[in-house]
Amino acid sequence: MTCDFLNCDCAALNSIMPTYKRAPLAMVRGRGCLLYDTNGKEYLDLLAGVAVVSVGHAREEVVCAISEQAQQLIHTSNYFWNQPACQLSQKLNKISGNGYQVFFCNSGTEATECAIKLARKWGSNKGKHKIIAADRSFHGRTLAALAATGQPAKWEGFSPLPTGFTHCKINDIDAWDAAIDDSTAAILLEPIQGEGGIFPASKEFLSKLHKICSERNVLFMLDEIQTGCGRTGSWWAWQQLGVRPDVFLSAKGLANGIPIGACLARDKIATLFQPGTHGSTFGGGPVACAAALATLDVLEKNNYLTAAKVLGSYLQEALLSLPKIIEVRGMGLMIGAQLDSDISEKVTQLCFEKGLIVNHLTSSVIRITPPLCITQAQLDHAVRILDSVLRTL
Ligand SMILES: Cc1ncc(COP(=O)(O)O)c(C=O)c1O
Repeated sequence: MTCDFLNCDCAALNSIMPTYKRAPLAMVRGRGCLLYDTNGKEYLDLLAGVAVVSVGHAREEVVCAISEQAQQLIHTSNYFWNQPACQLSQKLNKISGNGYQVFFCNSGTEATECAIKLARKWGSNKGKHKIIAADRSFHGRTLAALAATGQPAKWEGFSPLPTGFTHCKINDIDAWDAAIDDSTAAILLEPIQGEGGIFPASKEFLSKLHKICSERNVLFMLDEIQTGCGRTGSWWAWQQLGVRPDVFLSAKGLANGIPIGACLARDKIATLFQPGTHGSTFGGGPVACAAALATLDVLEKNNYLTAAKVLGSYLQEALLSLPKIIEVRGMGLMIGAQLDSDISEKVTQLCFEKGLIVNHLTSSVIRITPPLCITQAQLDHAVRILDSVLRTL
């Protein structure tokens, strides 16, 4: 039997592990904030591959950088230096106020693993191994990142998980204060919880926690995998929140869709890693790093960070005026619209039908993370579609 939306043998759909509930759609092409499916139908993309395609689909500068680099050199191993990786580590340092060293990998979860290993290494001669993360957090699917993830439902069936992780409620400073003890090596936090439902950590909470960590010699580690690369209106959310992490993570939006991850650690911590302590075959490959350099360049040259801030506020306000939306959370163009009931899957479906892609993050939260090159007119169009859908429910 032929699957009509993919124009391929239906059996092919069962040859991929069913780890995702996929919409019966296949995209074949994109341009800017628009996507086109196998039938040629156009969609306005307010998801951007989950906060990944930061400068838009098929962005010319990124495509050229990938293509030019691929024609020169795709892979050599980490036994040699490569120019794009060196340039990217310097660029990341520059936009982070310097003082960091970078470990490159290929995904968010690998960046988390790197941070966990660094924290363990740092604590190993101090009797410190424990890592405290937040309830409802998300840090990845590999085993240690999963153990750090504060969502027990995601742990089911995978025990025994690595030990030494505890979880506290975000913004409850007393709980974190009480949980930190002599065996605590690090805390790990998303400035805005992404997969958990778009819940921001407050500035006050972060600043108090940062102070406690420095007083008690505990590493302050931030997961900026979803919040980073300009999405919240600054390169990293921490730059607007008045804290400076010892270690922080990037991935998703860094190379506009080419797999990449990065763990940045202050020089003194980073140098605990020596040849042989950690590694990655593909990490820091020239093509991914060239794509990331081009992405950061496009973000900078087009002032997309400022745009994320301005358009984010504009969109938050517009969403608040819609029926059935009772709260809007987030920063910049990382937004969660809280609905008054469990209708988010239906909303997403109806939006698809009308050519708009949004994401039902939880049963009652719609996530909006468009490419940062989105225009105000495109946001207005999206709001009109959402309005018409919400009125029918
Ligand atoms: C905050 C955060 N950390 C880690 C991850 C894991 O990233 P990846 O899926 O690239 O492994 C994600 C992915 O959604 C994330 O949002």
